[in-house]
Amino acid sequence: MIISLCGTKGGTGKTTVSMSLALEWLERGRRVLVVDADPQRSASKWAEEARKQERQAPNVATYDIRRMRSTDLPGLKADNDIVIIDCPARQPEVQRAALMASDAALVPSAPSVVDAWALNETFDLVQRVAIVRSQLKSFVLINRQVARTHVAAGARSLLSNYGFDLLKSEWGNRIAFQAAPKMGLGVTAFAPMSKAADEVRALADEVHEAVRAPSRPKFIAPPVPIRDRKAFEEYERLRVYEPAFAQCS
Ligand SMILES: Nc1ncnc2c1ncn2[C@@H]1O[C@H](COP(=O)(O)OP(=O)(O)O)[C@@H](O)[C@H]1O
Ligand SMILES: [Mg+2]
Repeated sequence: MIISLCGTKGGTGKTTVSMSLALEWLERGRRVLVVDADPQRSASKWAEEARKQERQAPNVATYDIRRMRSTDLPGLKADNDIVIIDCPARQPEVQRAALMASDAALVPSAPSVVDAWALNETFDLVQRVAIVRSQLKSFVLINRQVARTHVAAGARSLLSNYGFDLLKSEWGNRIAFQAAPKMGLGVTAFAPMSKAADEVRALADEVHEAVRAPSRPKFIAPPVPIRDRKAFEEYERLRVYEPAFAQCS
């Protein structure tokens, strides 16, 4: 499976999620490749750190994803159980190319209104790809959740309005996520008993299952900017395939 960590906002956790999942799946014995599509090369540096400290690291490739051809995909899938593409926030054309090759888009977002606004733009990007790749799945992960606050309580209803499937897993705002890369580790190896490690393991399980599950019939939005979200949602609601309706007709 190929999963793109994307989103047009920077600092949402794309690299942290990419590498945490890669290291967790590697520990579980999967063949994992991380494609570091971000010129900042954070994922590559994380893996370099791991190698320097003689720890387990996933293979990281830095080729230009925009040059990839559909004929490259079977080989990529045959050589790896899981390919994770860590996208740069500010290069939508790189994200588009990554999504063209992916089974799923995974978009981390903080549970704040400002981060939620950025999801509009990301959802438009994903939908434009979904026009030609209707099997593309897309998920939002709530990241840097702050427990026991009003923000936390309202996060799910806030982020469920942007067209993505909202994952059950959530990641808290935790020190372990910031400290682990310095040692070239994922949090599951850095602090195996921590809440952060539990969250990574739960996300790895949920994402693996969700990406492998058969696709639900999905409405494909027209390739125009969404100006009236209420009208769009009503249109989408009417177009959603519901077996109950099919039986009535
Ligand atoms: N759940 C989290 N808890 C604490 N810090 C986090 C968490 N997720 C990400 N961060 C921190 O936020 C910053 C941005 O994360 P990063 O993965 O580099 O984002 P992106 O790749 O989207 O730009 C980094 O300093 C990272 O350590
Ligand atoms: Mg990054």
